[in-house]
Amino acid sequence: MADKKVTLTLNGEAPVELDVLQGTLGQDVVDVRSLGSKGLFTFDPGFTSTASCESKITYIDGDEGILLHRGYPIDQLATHSNYLEVCYILLNGETPTSEQFEEFRTTVTRHTMIHEQITRLLQGFRRDSHPMAVMCGVTGALAAFYHDSLDVNIERHREIAAFRLLSKMPTVAAMCYKYSIGQPFVYPRNDLSYAGNFLHMMFATPCEEYKINPVLERAMDRILILHADHEQNASTSTVRTAGSSGANPFACIAAGIASLWGPAHGGANEACLRMLEEINHKEHIPEFVKRAKDKNDSFRLMGFGHRVYKNYDPRATVMRDTCHEVLNELGMKDDLLEVAMELEHIALNDPYFIERKLYPNVDFYSGIILKAMGIPSSMFTVIFAMARTVGWIAHWKEMHDEGMKIARPRQLYTGYEQREFTSKLSK
Ligand code: CMC
Repeated sequence: MADKKVTLTLNGEAPVELDVLQGTLGQDVVDVRSLGSKGLFTFDPGFTSTASCESKITYIDGDEGILLHRGYPIDQLATHSNYLEVCYILLNGETPTSEQFEEFRTTVTRHTMIHEQITRLLQGFRRDSHPMAVMCGVTGALAAFYHDSLDVNIERHREIAAFRLLSKMPTVAAMCYKYSIGQPFVYPRNDLSYAGNFLHMMFATPCEEYKINPVLERAMDRILILHADHEQNASTSTVRTAGSSGANPFACIAAGIASLWGPAHGGANEACLRMLEEINHKEHIPEFVKRAKDKNDSFRLMGFGHRVYKNYDPRATVMRDTCHEVLNELGMKDDLLEVAMELEHIALNDPYFIERKLYPNVDFYSGIILKAMGIPSSMFTVIFAMARTVGWIAHWKEMHDEGMKIARPRQLYTGYEQREFTSKLSK
């Protein structure tokens, strides 16, 4: 029995008493599950006030700018942990011992190869295909390789699927890149770190040795940590919705990748860099800020604003520091970073952005880092997808582990009432 209750009275009918559920942190949640059987639905397009599930993985306090994975603050994880340890924490709920971590790392690094037939699938894509389209297709196609051997109702099978996805995603991502530039695929190397192996598959060629720069390897690892999970965002909710029907996990992750691609979500990093390039110089910033504030112009400041954060995105703070580190290491003075910092300064002092609590988000600085590392902007969202795969799987597993109902929202129907059909086609 919940301690708090909400009473709903509709047009003098008998009141309906609803439980108010309390989590360990965050807002109370009114349990409206009994309303459907009483002939009432709740209406919340875009889920601005709806908790779609119960979860123990990630917590966000948008007003305070707090992000916790299994209780651990994101800045501590980004500074003192590594991506694979964060993956372990997200998937298992606790920090690993050295032995547990070693076993986890070994399992992930031993499943990085992809079936050779996938290379022939890739040949079917146009040379100039966007890498996100290729990644979505290839990940979905992996369902065909692991379908009969996978029963999502068996916990061990779910675990194997989780390892396969985590291990193979960097290989898929790097293959998408190599295909787009016409270079031969580079096979994964199990002696390298997760981030180092990805950089190697991206930049090594058969002609010359590729030496991994440890600063860039660490920066890539940090980018992966910062994108690893973000509770019930659009793509994670998509994976949960697809998975709620019992669908193959590779197909569910492909659905997540599709959802991530949009510019309002993961596609913002690519769109943000394009915007900074378009702004080009500090003196053009006021013109773009004016456009962003104009209700008749669809232009928005990319990398600004967030559905949940009404404060500085804690991931953006770490990303900005990493950005400076990478540019220093490479001895680069990036004009775009100057434009970005000035844009941030102007927007944070503008009443329009202050009133709407619009702050830089994770995507504001990530593009500048990735560009400095030599990664083309079309690959930015692919890297986001690779990093987020662990979050998607953690939520998919949690949903299966806890028992689930198929996701089936209802609607407020505003179409025609029933009417007689008469064809307008000439007989
Ligand atoms: N530039 C200018 N105005 C903005 C922006 C922006 N980037 N974001 C929101 N607004 C305004 C919006 O016009 C509205 O104004 P008004 O109240 O006068 O109508 C108000 O702020 C609230 O916006 P909203 O669209 O109702 O807010 P939302 O919660 O539905 O949207 C968002 C959140 C992230 C889609 C939106 O802020 C946005 O489009 N930002 C740019 C894209 C972006 O950077 N996305 C990456 C998000 S972080 C990475 C991830 O997790 O995917």
